Amino acid sequence: MRFTVAIDGPAAAGKGTISRAVAERFGFAHLDTGALYRAVGVKAQAGGLDPVAAAKGLCPEDLARDDLRTLEAGQAASIVAVIPDVRAALVDFQREFARREGGAVLDGRDIGTVICPGAEVKLFVTASPEVRAHRRWLEVGGEEAQVLAQVRERDDRDMNRADAPLRPAEDALVLDTSDLSIEEAVARACEAVSQKLG
Ligand code: CDP
Ligand code: CDP
Repeated sequence: MRFTVAIDGPAAAGKGTISRAVAERFGFAHLDTGALYRAVGVKAQAGGLDPVAAAKGLCPEDLARDDLRTLEAGQAASIVAVIPDVRAALVDFQREFARREGGAVLDGRDIGTVICPGAEVKLFVTASPEVRAHRRWLEVGGEEAQVLAQVRERDDRDMNRADAPLRPAEDALVLDTSDLSIEEAVARACEAVSQKLG
């Protein structure tokens, strides 16, 4: 069976949490596509490499680094994600993953719009910037105001780039998690998948 669930949305909206839960519930494989961009950003920055070369040479060890979830890695990711050749270098891997036997969940920014426009289920997960920054701050600590500023800056860059900007696909179900618990958000996402599976 081939079945793709596309989950997009801005930073710290709950995409990863929902994706992991949906994958576990339905036995699908999960790909966090943000990790690809984070790995390219960190690799390019740390090694003084050209981001396009870093994307073309991306390997499993790059994805296993333990510094991919920092705020700095998120910023580095959104900067390299603007470059069309970086995005192009990552397309085939994501599309192959999406069509693997047994079902797949991919979360990112452009899954429902560019990578898998034919996905069986598309969710656009969002929440207010303040709620999202608070959630991220609980994870990384530091100054909450600075986390909010970074979240806004990254949203702005992701929404306003020319290539694959962050926006809901026309046929996406929009899920605002600002006032939802994780359990409620996961239940809504699972409902959408169950409905489509029939
Ligand atoms: O993947 P994304 O950046 O969109 O978000 P995430 O890493 O899944 O979620 C960010 C944080 O918000 C995590 O610590 C989640 O536990 C939390 N969260 C929450 O508090 N309420 C939700 N409805 C969803 C996520
Ligand atoms: O977890 P969080 O939502 O904070 O970020 P992420 O999903 O790990 O993505 C990091 C950055 O990579 C985003 O801000 C985007 O600039 C970029 N990205 C993208 O352009 N396209 C994707 N499909 C996934 C991530």
